[in-house]
Amino acid sequence: MVSTLPSPHRVAESEIRLDIRTLHPQIVTWRRHLHQRPELGFQEQLTAEFVAKKLQEWGIEHQTGIAKTGIVATIVGNGKGPVLAIRADMDALPIQEENNVSYRSQHDGMMHACGHDGHIAIALGTAYYLSQHRHLFSGTVKIIFQPAEEGLGGAQPMIAEGVLENPDVDAIIGLHLWNNLPLGTVGVREGALMAAVECFKCTIFGKGGHGAMPHQTVDPIVVSAQIVNALQTIVSRNIDPIDSAVVTVGELHAGTAHNVIANTAKMSGTVRYFNPRMEGYFKERIEQVIAGVCQSQGASYNLEYWRLYPPTINNKQIARLVKSVASQVVETPAGIVVECQTMGGEDMSFFLDTVPGCYFFVGSANPARDLAYPHHHPRFDFDETALAMGVEIFVRCVEKFCG
Ligand code: NI
Repeated sequence: MVSTLPSPHRVAESEIRLDIRTLHPQIVTWRRHLHQRPELGFQEQLTAEFVAKKLQEWGIEHQTGIAKTGIVATIVGNGKGPVLAIRADMDALPIQEENNVSYRSQHDGMMHACGHDGHIAIALGTAYYLSQHRHLFSGTVKIIFQPAEEGLGGAQPMIAEGVLENPDVDAIIGLHLWNNLPLGTVGVREGALMAAVECFKCTIFGKGGHGAMPHQTVDPIVVSAQIVNALQTIVSRNIDPIDSAVVTVGELHAGTAHNVIANTAKMSGTVRYFNPRMEGYFKERIEQVIAGVCQSQGASYNLEYWRLYPPTINNKQIARLVKSVASQVVETPAGIVVECQTMGGEDMSFFLDTVPGCYFFVGSANPARDLAYPHHHPRFDFDETALAMGVEIFVRCVEKFCG
């Protein structure tokens, strides 16, 4: 899919203000420094130290150690006004980097393969710019450096520890550098952007025996195969076709030898959907399917089902605000991409469930420079021009929201 990307739109250079263009080489330096030192969720010690040191240098008030490694910086503008929060996630992934670049990961088996290094650099660039231009906005900007986006959910403990209070946040924005979109584009839409993420694990208990004497057994492989097939009918036959959903069985393990019928089989899977009204539906339906098949075959089961993230849903007004400032930064109306929904999940959703806001994508792929590998790929990298675009969009959002 990535290789068929249109070529990058030329970034409307003139729309990136001079101060930010001048700052850009430094933002790139920060990003590369962080890229060399990736850390996994809730272990972002060096990352947090780096961020805190910069904020300290610039005289920006901040609090460290929130949800272990999180940081919140507070920048007060020129007089009273609304409070806007900007969120950046900080964690890397357990992937061995395969890029041959001067700034490649120095931490074995860990890599910033999702672009969160860029998110931190953009947030730092925004913090620096705003701290130098407090006259451009009234009100307050809170910059939230969040640990552990990749599955562990750092957003929830940060909210629980009060990052959206004192002063109370009126709206929140955040971005993801996005290699599914070419450089020079911004993906922004009202409503659902990313999906709810739910997970399940199931053990099927059969009755093992000889592969040649199936009548003496309850074969958990045959039961599992029926379950996997039956689960496909939830999306195809139960869900309104206008809604989108995914049920994927990602693991299925059973058996030890060709002539042995196993005792048990284990499977795990993931569920995705946009519509918040579907909460609870899949848990119930999946259990019905598993229970029904098991009962018909004389097997039993143990099911664990849990929700990782709710859907990421943008507030209409804030999404319109982001769209209007982004369209100044990209060259053409074609640079704003509304059809950018993805079944991927994001724990930005917890922030957006608490206060109105908007999460959006900044296109960062540049196939001509071989910078178009998908997120979480060992050769993931992005066009760093997108860093300046990110800062420009954040700064303009602040001016518009807190102006
Ligand atoms: Ni990510």
